[in-house]
Amino acid sequence: MSSSDSATRVVSGMRPTGRLHLGHYHGVLKNWVRLQYEFDCYFFVADWHALTTAYDNTGSITGHTFDVVVDWLAAGLNPGSSTIFVQSRVPEHAELHLLLSMITPLAWLERVPSYKDQQQKLGDKDLATYGFLGYPLLQAADILIYRAGHVPVGADQVAHVELTREVARRFNHIYGKEPGFEEMAEAAITKLGKKNARLYKESRRAYLEQGDAEALERARALLSGQQNLSIGDTERLYGYLEGGGRIILSEPHALVNEAARVPGLDGEKMSKSYNNTIQLREEPEVVEEKIRTMKTDPARARRKDPGNPDNCPVFALHQLYSSKDLLAWSSEGCRSASIGCLDCKKPLIDAVNAEQAQMRQRAAQFEDDPDLVNSILQEGSETARAVARETLEDVREAIGIA
Ligand code: TRP
Ligand code: SF4
Repeated sequence: MSSSDSATRVVSGMRPTGRLHLGHYHGVLKNWVRLQYEFDCYFFVADWHALTTAYDNTGSITGHTFDVVVDWLAAGLNPGSSTIFVQSRVPEHAELHLLLSMITPLAWLERVPSYKDQQQKLGDKDLATYGFLGYPLLQAADILIYRAGHVPVGADQVAHVELTREVARRFNHIYGKEPGFEEMAEAAITKLGKKNARLYKESRRAYLEQGDAEALERARALLSGQQNLSIGDTERLYGYLEGGGRIILSEPHALVNEAARVPGLDGEKMSKSYNNTIQLREEPEVVEEKIRTMKTDPARARRKDPGNPDNCPVFALHQLYSSKDLLAWSSEGCRSASIGCLDCKKPLIDAVNAEQAQMRQRAAQFEDDPDLVNSILQEGSETARAVARETLEDVREAIGIA
């Protein structure tokens, strides 16, 4: 596969944090589930990333990896539609990370915002390691090894995708300038056939001389439809379009989730560390109890006190689950005190439990048969490795250590 496939590839990873909750579901997983039907998706558990912040606490990584994957499957990720695997089972990520580390300026890593932020926030952890500094570069390798075009991430990860783009650009700049590049690119153009060669040249000129972005897109589209070019020639022609050398690693784009902020039981953001979560695959009675005791608008201290749904975390959760009509009912009932909070919560409890019933049902077979999960991961890792090896071969060849 070449960089021409990258527009359709999606890659993303998640740390093995253990059982997932509704925050993960609405903020991340729902999006992944949708993407798997539109793109060629690679989703992995970033177990090496767990080491970058907790190398001395490794006892739960394997169990957490299992739980995370079962939650993915429960949420609707489908191993027939997306490639699901574990980072450490694709050692090619590590080799690319090593090679990229040679060309990455220290300053680029030191200025990634999460570097200093996390050192301040996680003061009790030892983050003065080489691994922690290099963590965004490991992420860059995770992405570039699949030549992914899109990376679904939260807003906090955008800087890492930006770094990934810079590293790819630098790599291409350093290693994409083979001797005789121009001649080879011109020779590749003739292989497009007369008509396409003219179109390519015209578009290239329009882009290079007038900055015509549409012309660039047209030429790229033309290249992505070419079946007969070698990988090398395709890379050359992509690079030549923009006036550079070969494009060996393609620059990905961040697909930022329109951050669904899922409120936790106490009204703060739902997060394991705040102990305010509703997990996926929770028992129905537990869901009911958690929502029954969930914080509401403090103005409604008594049943007859009117409230304001805008100040109520329950209502925020309602918005993720309920129809317009139901929302209008609870909003009006709240403002006029014609319903009580328990009345308001009842349909929400039912909706969350209906969603969870499906997840519990999907998860059951995997909980009963852990080998099933292992074989999904085994197969996913092999699929991923095949793609990763191709990229690495190109990378090694470009560097000159093939
Ligand atoms: N750093 C991400 C996080 O902490 C996880 C991650 C690792 C990732 N590698 C990635 C996300 C590659 C997207 C692409 O959430
Ligand atoms: Fe919140 Fe509903 Fe109670 Fe209003 S009635 S405070 S929206 S739970």
